[in-house]
Amino acid sequence: MRFLSLKPVLRYALIILFIVVSTGIVFSFFMSNYIVLLLVLLTEFIVLMMMLHYVFDKYVKPIQKATNTLDELVKGNFRARMHHPVSGSMASLLMQINKLARSLSELSINEKMQAEQLTTVIENIQSGLILIDEKGYIHLVNRNFLGLFGNKKERDYIGYLYYDVLDHEKIHKTIQQTFLYEEKVKDSLIIENGHKQYFEIIGAPIFDEKNMLKGAVIVLYDITELKKLEAMRKDFVANVSHELKTPITSIRGFAETLLDDNNLHDVDTAKQFLSIINEESKRLQMLIQDLLSLSKLEKDDSKIELATVHFTELVDEVMPVINQQAENNGITLHVESGENIEFKAEHSGVKQVMINLLVNAISYTPKGGGVTLLAEELEEYIHLQVSDTGIGIPKESLPRIFERFYRVDKARSRNTGGTGLGLAIVKHIVELHQGKIEVESEVNVGTTFHVYFPKR
Ligand SMILES: Nc1ncnc2c1ncn2[C@@H]1O[C@H](COP(=O)(O)OP(=O)(O)OP(=O)(O)O)[C@@H](O)[C@H]1O
Ligand SMILES: [Mg+2]
Repeated sequence: MRFLSLKPVLRYALIILFIVVSTGIVFSFFMSNYIVLLLVLLTEFIVLMMMLHYVFDKYVKPIQKATNTLDELVKGNFRARMHHPVSGSMASLLMQINKLARSLSELSINEKMQAEQLTTVIENIQSGLILIDEKGYIHLVNRNFLGLFGNKKERDYIGYLYYDVLDHEKIHKTIQQTFLYEEKVKDSLIIENGHKQYFEIIGAPIFDEKNMLKGAVIVLYDITELKKLEAMRKDFVANVSHELKTPITSIRGFAETLLDDNNLHDVDTAKQFLSIINEESKRLQMLIQDLLSLSKLEKDDSKIELATVHFTELVDEVMPVINQQAENNGITLHVESGENIEFKAEHSGVKQVMINLLVNAISYTPKGGGVTLLAEELEEYIHLQVSDTGIGIPKESLPRIFERFYRVDKARSRNTGGTGLGLAIVKHIVELHQGKIEVESEVNVGTTFHVYFPKR
């Protein structure tokens, strides 16, 4: 750089030397006094040198600096700026160059930010993503995609042909069809990673501005949860149909038998059949009521109206029904509670929880057993506890008893008139209150349900 800036100075100095020497030779013909001649030449030399310095500082130096700054900008160093004390057109050139540098710097920052944003989006979307060019080479795979196929790294894919590094036939097919039809293609895929994962694969072609195919984006969208929900819905419909079928078949059977003239004259048989029909229709009604309350609870916008619930009031409302049932089953009922227990909850919801748990406790406890209802105030929760000395629930069934229609002993539970929805309803109500429910049980010893309602 130094050498470069010295070169023009030397060049101009040589020209000045040449001018001084040639004027000296010409003047020597007219001047005989060498001292005067030397003084004239010296003055000429000084004046020319001063002129050179002025031109150099005002024009050459700024142009050199401008060239250097532009060089830096071309190399991508957008922080390069030019500083030189000048005026006039040179000053405006300097200003324009600095303005250009600032714009370039802003542009590059924006571009960098956009690139970073795009990378963040690609890396963090919940779907696997692959970008392939028109020749079939992989250009990009995101983190989620890598997670799907075990411990392979980005470098195991990028720069390779998709059919060399991707094992799944379905992915190959989607890519081929995307290229062939040049339109969006959808398929589904199951990946086994210890557990089954269901995916929807979507292949979308990419075109350039001339509408020529440039490649394809393949997205693997996890639909495992959706599949689970679909299976649950199917199960539910099958269960409901099954539950409805049993009482309806029985009602129809007994009604048909009754319609047979011979049976109608036998008053005792007729009464017996009619009471069965009555029982079965009650069961149907209960089932439909339970289904309706479940669907009401499950509605997304299902809201609860909180009011102050007094435990003693609840007990007064629930006990007449429960006492009657306990007496019929030969079971002693016991209620224990702290003083003045009150909390914010939905009155009818808490009542339903207590009835369902108490009825279960009575139904699944043999004659002579006992059922206890306990209420206590904890720091953040109101703890309700229903315990019995009944048949208990086997360990393997405990995680499932809150499922809809789940019964430990199907035949026995049906005899008690149960629909298998009681605990599902209880759990829903408790969760709507942001509370929790726990159960502990030992076969032939007894069962205890703990419900915690937040006091708020
Ligand atoms: N206290 C208990 N002791 C033993 N088993 C119980 C008890 N409570 C519930 N269970 C078991 O859990 C199952 C599910 O109870 P849930 O209350 O949901 O249904 P259900 O009692 O059969 O019918 P319903 O919908 O009429 O209440 C019961 O069938 C029973 O096998
Ligand atoms: Mg029940």
